[in-house]
Amino acid sequence: MKNIVVLVSGGGTNLQRIIDCIDNGEIPNATISFVVADRDCFGLERAKNKDIPSQLIPRGKAFSSELKQILPENIDLIVLAGFLSILNKEFCESFSGKIINIHPALLPKFGGKGMWGHHVHEAVLKAGEKESGATVHYVTSGIDEGEIILQKSFEISENETVETLAEKIHRVEFEIYPKAINLVLN
Ligand code: GRF
Repeated sequence: MKNIVVLVSGGGTNLQRIIDCIDNGEIPNATISFVVADRDCFGLERAKNKDIPSQLIPRGKAFSSELKQILPENIDLIVLAGFLSILNKEFCESFSGKIINIHPALLPKFGGKGMWGHHVHEAVLKAGEKESGATVHYVTSGIDEGEIILQKSFEISENETVETLAEKIHRVEFEIYPKAINLVLN
């Protein structure tokens, strides 16, 4: 059984999708052993509703070292699912190749510091991009710079807004994150 830890900061719909895929067999032979949040958020509730052990570690300088101390042993994968803190270099290096993130744009475009949530969608629309999408990538100490595992794009429509873009991207994320998790685990 592969052992997954999920980190969240927000609504946790990607966490929910992973939970559902483990339940329905789309992600076989895996279990979420722990959910950690860096702030109070609905993602934590989703873990509690499923009786998945969870913990809040307040965001800040000590986050990465505190997380390292409480992580269960034998972790196969750390999945960032709408997680907004930056994990420090030491943490990223000690779990190299075992941390993945989903980003709501087509990296390497529209990544880096400050590029999260609506900021990404606003920048994409402002730049007049013809397409957007989502990217799953390995996490390294360079923000959004790790190797790309999976990416899916779609055409931006003429009357696209930040809200419609966010909606479409979530749908793409729900499709590619479980696939990427399977790829990495197997
Ligand atoms: C997703 O769009 C993800 O790409 C980004 O934050 C959002 C998280 O949504 N990093 P949710 O918390 O999984 O609903």
